[in-house]
Amino acid sequence: MKNIFPGVWRNEGYIFTKNAVKGESIFTPRILKKGNTEYREWDPNRSKPAAAIMKGLKEFPIKPRAKILYLGIANGTTASFFSDITGPEGVIYGVEISERSIKDLNPIAEKRGNIVPILASARNPDEYSWIEKVDVVYQDVATSDQSDIMIKNAKRFLKPNGFAVIAIKARSIDVVKKPNEVYKKELAKLGEHFRILDKIKLDPYEKDHLFVVMKATGVKT
Ligand SMILES: C[S@@+](CC[C@H](N)C(=O)[O-])C[C@H]1O[C@@H](n2cnc3c(N)ncnc32)[C@H](O)[C@@H]1O
Repeated sequence: MKNIFPGVWRNEGYIFTKNAVKGESIFTPRILKKGNTEYREWDPNRSKPAAAIMKGLKEFPIKPRAKILYLGIANGTTASFFSDITGPEGVIYGVEISERSIKDLNPIAEKRGNIVPILASARNPDEYSWIEKVDVVYQDVATSDQSDIMIKNAKRFLKPNGFAVIAIKARSIDVVKKPNEVYKKELAKLGEHFRILDKIKLDPYEKDHLFVVMKATGVKT
């Protein structure tokens, strides 16, 4: 096992996190046991940050003890790996608009103890105004106003030196325009509010997606 980021390992071309809930094999194709430790394989075909890491991402701000606002947490597939990485001293506030997904997320959050499911629209931060300031806003809502949602939430909840991470889905923003044109426009908009540290296309794991890691220095109010 080679440690590639805090809380993330690589072994024979596959990536892993340490399983925070021993014996639990949900959302992973495989668990590897080394001594007393269980490593969960993180499938790049089912989780965009895993795809970004496989494709050579250099900046990965999800770290042990991080406080994260996760917009579009769905049933918690990706969040379960974030939960392994942040550990019990971290927390993931997971905003999701679909009641069905929140129902699926609830038992996972209960087992893990560091995921807080929030049934709300990420367009209305007033609905979760009670959360604390976070180190990372992670956004994967796949809507046409993805960048605006990110900017709005980061202004309100991101610590001054925090990170904003977004998976831009070109087809959700404009089905007609070429993905590269969509990315250019979205990056220009995001670049007015954040410093872009790293960006990586997720093909072939996720078609027409750009994964972008940004820093909050200069978030305008
Ligand atoms: C691509 S899926 C997320 C997958 C998830 N991030 C993962 O990797 O496990 C997008 C999610 O965003 C949710 N969503 C769409 N619009 C939303 C909004 N305005 N506020 C919160 N969630 C939203 C959808 O219901 C869906 O569950």
